Amino acid sequence: MESRKSVSKTLNLFIMNHKLFLLVIAVAVLLISCSTGDEQAAQNRDLNHMSVSEATLDSLINLMTLEEKLDLIHASSSFTSGGIPRLDIPELVFSDGPHGVRHEHGRGWYALEDADDQATYLPVGICLASTWNKDLGYDYGEVLGNEAKERGKDVLLGPGVNIIRSPLNGRNFEYLSEDPFLTGKMGVGYVKGLQDQGVAACPKHYTANNQETDRHNINAVISKRALHEIYLPAFKDVVQDGEAWSVMGAYNKVNGQYATHHEYLNNVVLKGNWEFDGVLLSDWASVKDTREALLYGTDIEMGTELLRDFNNPVYNEFYLANPAKEMIENGEVDERFVDNKVRRVLRLMHRSTALTDHGPGKRNVPEHQQKALEVAREGIVLLKNDGILPMDKSEINTIAVIGHNANRRFAGRGGSSQVNALYEITPLEGIRNLVGDDVDVVFAEGYEPYYDESLFRGDGGDAASQSRENRQDVELARTANEDLMQEAVALAEEADAVIFVGGWIHGHEGMPWGQGTYDAEARDKLNLKLIFGQEELIREINRVNDRTAVVLMGGSNVEMENWLPDTPAYLQAWYPGMEGGTAIAEIIFGDVNPSGKLPMTFANSHEDYPSHAIGEFPGDGSVEYTEGIYVGYRYFDTQDKPVTFPFGFGLSYTTFEFSELNVTREEDRVLVQTTVTNTGDRAGSEVVQVYVHHRDPSVERPLRELKGFEKIQLDPGSSAMVTVELDESSFQYYHPDELEWVLESGEYEIQVGNSSRDIKLRADVVL
Ligand code: BGC
Repeated sequence: MESRKSVSKTLNLFIMNHKLFLLVIAVAVLLISCSTGDEQAAQNRDLNHMSVSEATLDSLINLMTLEEKLDLIHASSSFTSGGIPRLDIPELVFSDGPHGVRHEHGRGWYALEDADDQATYLPVGICLASTWNKDLGYDYGEVLGNEAKERGKDVLLGPGVNIIRSPLNGRNFEYLSEDPFLTGKMGVGYVKGLQDQGVAACPKHYTANNQETDRHNINAVISKRALHEIYLPAFKDVVQDGEAWSVMGAYNKVNGQYATHHEYLNNVVLKGNWEFDGVLLSDWASVKDTREALLYGTDIEMGTELLRDFNNPVYNEFYLANPAKEMIENGEVDERFVDNKVRRVLRLMHRSTALTDHGPGKRNVPEHQQKALEVAREGIVLLKNDGILPMDKSEINTIAVIGHNANRRFAGRGGSSQVNALYEITPLEGIRNLVGDDVDVVFAEGYEPYYDESLFRGDGGDAASQSRENRQDVELARTANEDLMQEAVALAEEADAVIFVGGWIHGHEGMPWGQGTYDAEARDKLNLKLIFGQEELIREINRVNDRTAVVLMGGSNVEMENWLPDTPAYLQAWYPGMEGGTAIAEIIFGDVNPSGKLPMTFANSHEDYPSHAIGEFPGDGSVEYTEGIYVGYRYFDTQDKPVTFPFGFGLSYTTFEFSELNVTREEDRVLVQTTVTNTGDRAGSEVVQVYVHHRDPSVERPLRELKGFEKIQLDPGSSAMVTVELDESSFQYYHPDELEWVLESGEYEIQVGNSSRDIKLRADVVL
């Protein structure tokens, strides 16, 4: 910390004493900037952005040797990139992850035993998105920023803003939504909250990292239209509205070129059109080529030794170390490409905690735990309620809590997003805490997770993927443990009510990374069938007790046709963080009125999703995104396909009415106003969702696209007017041939509702 402050002081003194010199340098750099191409454009933009401190950073570059510059643009340990001691420039310190600051590694790859690294474990990204509450997005980032700062991190590797293309993607729990608008808006709040604490956000993985199978090499083949309408907008939002200081490139290829050094994605779109002046960080070992990394936008290379010699990293052998030096010395690539990267790194250091003192930060404080609780309360989605919820504890003597997940902790698993949580309240604990001595809570595990290597293909390491073909193994994963089931059903039969807690799990204790995992990095799911015999168990419980609420964890849905019809109530809890058990109990017993809404369509089976029905997943070497722009509800609604629960859906214990829709055009914006009334007898929150539909488009367009939303809290009987503003971009589409955004005139229908399948009011506007 000391040395950082002294750098800042040195810089300030340098600025005061060398104003004229700096001006000369700035002008000189401007004049001698390279002559053509993306590099020229990027450098000009950099110079346009230049404040006095930028000029100082530029002048610093002139003091550096080539070796020193290269030190700044590749890893110096597992989670640092190099500094320059001679110039008092510190290393940059990174940390995962999206929902909590990851445990300490020191300079190596393994968790340190005695580190002081316990942290707040927030609900995962998909749970945050289910709140549809932009303010919570900001608060979430603020918690992470404070905790990262307290632990000396400069860059936090999140949020995950890849689009949920298939429900099978093992990392969907870290991502936000199938919809680019919702992803973008929630992501912007996160980025701002984080960076306001002086810690750089690093939205990831840019872009089309939509599966884990073969993630290091898969080539995602996507039309320009789908890229711009579906896979890029959230990144654009976090870069332009969120002003993210860094972005992480993806492992995969996009249309034939690795995303981390992709000429079009990085130089033309990110740094060109969007004017991103921050750092494009590689994913860990996503750089595959020195020349491309130098030319096509990679600013810092991390993790490459992961793929070489895990235990003896030689950082000078990174692509952006000695091989880059050789290329520059041979004259194959101009050194100014390195200077541009260095300038970006220094800019990031200047903006973030790396050089300046942004205050001490806070960790594991009650207000952070409170935020974790608020996100869980608003992110858990009530999907079915035949009237058994909320439960009244005064009417219950004995409640049976059944299911392995009721007593399982999730923080420490899932891949790079793992957190050493200060604590984690399980659903069983949350229920016991809430009912106290008034109700007898009995527990049975009900089913048992197990691991069988034959369930998986490959060596169980990073590159391994679950076989989709092995049907016999699928049956095995669905087998129930008879003894556990009998014990649970007997308890259920005796109890006044049952809360079953099951669903997916991140992985198995004691298993190496990647083995036996669902909802984890490097693995995709086989299908959406409930694992470990839970389907049979739920059916048996429903048979003996008709007051059963099912709570499912996970980063996606499961198939429901065999158990949902007979299940009176169902809550989707995702992985709800360290206070998740408290929130689940509060919702079940009515202390909290649920208000979460699905950020992804829950279809009947994975085969129904467009990526499987009309597209391809996971492909073989290359994966064709033939479904184009028809991702999620854009496909289900346009094609009128049945789903189990639609995008945007979620129940409340109260009811809302939408009335008086007014749509008015004001110059270049459209105002959508509607009145929402709480017509029930409990306070509650509703999400007003605004979808846009062109009535007669000249190119095919989805039936509806989300372009605005607002969450509103209302007391019983009260009303409020909600206003959502639409701008030009809300009506545009990306022209497949002209390759640019187009605003087509004509009649648009504005659809307002509380899910994509429950449009309550419609009005036209002519553009
Ligand atoms: C993941 C990234 C993560 C990085 C560092 C990679 O394998 O894809 O999301 O930030 O590792 O842990």
